[in-house]
Amino acid sequence: MRQYSDLKPGMPIGVFDSGIGGLTVAREIMRQMPNEKIVYFGDTARVPYGSKSKETVTRYSRQIVRFLLDQKVKAVAIACNTASAYALPEIEKECPVPVIGVIRPGARTACSCTRNGRIGVIGTRATVSSGSYTDFIHEIMPEAEVFAQACPLFVPLVEEGLWEDPVTDEIARRYMASLLDHGIDTLIMGCTHYPLIRKTIGRAAGEKISLINPAYETAMELRHMLEELKLLSDQRPFLGSTTPQYRFYVSDMAEQFQQFANSIIKYGILASEKIDIYHYSGEPLSAGRKV
Ligand code: DGL
Repeated sequence: MRQYSDLKPGMPIGVFDSGIGGLTVAREIMRQMPNEKIVYFGDTARVPYGSKSKETVTRYSRQIVRFLLDQKVKAVAIACNTASAYALPEIEKECPVPVIGVIRPGARTACSCTRNGRIGVIGTRATVSSGSYTDFIHEIMPEAEVFAQACPLFVPLVEEGLWEDPVTDEIARRYMASLLDHGIDTLIMGCTHYPLIRKTIGRAAGEKISLINPAYETAMELRHMLEELKLLSDQRPFLGSTTPQYRFYVSDMAEQFQQFANSIIKYGILASEKIDIYHYSGEPLSAGRKV
């Protein structure tokens, strides 16, 4: 296993997403690892990633990882499915700290959950067209049949707050129809926003289908990874510290982000700060920090 001698358990975990959706992953990390500090970055100026090219998403992801490395993180969690699908292989190669994406953990759980080997995946257009979930599933379970469906309307519906709404129910039914025709018994919610409309997706899919939330699985896998590397924090951060346990940064609209974040995370987001992410341009990534 690769050694990371300059990293310490007390350093924060860096988490990033194209915007607010990755807070579902941050929330799971907070629940499962209450001793950890988190630096979260949401690329609110450039969201959505789901309709952008691999090249663009990889470039954006590199800039963000460089910012997180500047914050002295001990690991990076790519909370965004689209960025995990497109940029994880490059970032993993270049990054001087351990990196985890959301796709592998989601795929692994789906394989252990399915009984008939027919797995559905829903996500952004980019995630679906990357074939990333399908590839990981086939690595683990070559005989599995994977049926993927892009659901581009879900992200705006969630961001508009229509979590429990007849419109969202109707859209979900339409998206689900073809997947149900394929007889899937397991469905991966392959986008950060979808766990927030889990009930709606569950109603459209029917109770016989197991829903997989990669956010939950990613936090579990991150915990194991930190444990193995002896990087898991075993101490609650000092309450009187001037640096908050959770820090949030965005590339635009800090106030709007904060409002939404407070509706997802119940730990109270004290502040979010806007930064100039273009300041972190440049290639390759490993030039940003020496191991
Ligand atoms: N965070 C993205 C994902 O999980 C959804 C929003 C977007 O398209 O940027 O794929």
